Amino acid sequence: MPPAQIDGAAGAPDTGLPVFETTAEERGLVQRQLGRCILRLQQYEMQSNYRRYYFDKKTAVADARHIERMGAFVCAYLRYVQLPVRCVLDIGCGVGQWQAIIAKHFPQASYQGVEFSEYLCERCGWERASVVDYRSKKPFDLVICQGVLACLSPMDLNRPCATSAH
Ligand SMILES: C[S@@+](CC[C@H](N)C(=O)[O-])C[C@H]1O[C@@H](n2cnc3c(N)ncnc32)[C@H](O)[C@@H]1O
Repeated sequence: MPPAQIDGAAGAPDTGLPVFETTAEERGLVQRQLGRCILRLQQYEMQSNYRRYYFDKKTAVADARHIERMGAFVCAYLRYVQLPVRCVLDIGCGVGQWQAIIAKHFPQASYQGVEFSEYLCERCGWERASVVDYRSKKPFDLVICQGVLACLSPMDLNRPCATSAH
């Protein structure tokens, strides 16, 4: 049976659009389905951006010399403060640009990449998880999270700080 159409909901602004009576269960279902659609769209967008900006040589924007210089700078600082770099977590690791930097400057260190993009996890073999609620079973000497926070919604932005403290 189609849902009953009612003229308006108490307190709701009159948009001129029909208002349908729905149950909390139905609203929850729609919200979950919308959430899944948004996630699929995000995954698709990340995949096409990565193809365009990293993997396609004609349109790639990543500057290898910049990454090398930045890596050398950060690793020199880590040596200066005498941080023992034995195991590294790179969360939101993208194509894993930091993997080569760590291998070059700390060849004994292990590197673990974590990514939200299904495409990159399949292509590069990273662990799939979100920085928002990632929990690791073991501690790391160094946690890299470069260029990731800008991808998060304002609501999620408060949470990674709590995560990285664990
Ligand atoms: C600008 S790229 C930076 C990639 C890498 N950190 C680097 O410096 O080359 C941002 C990355 O964050 C990932 N990302 C976005 N939201 C994420 C989330 N909630 N959890 C983990 N990774 C996420 C994206 O898929 C993307 O690979």
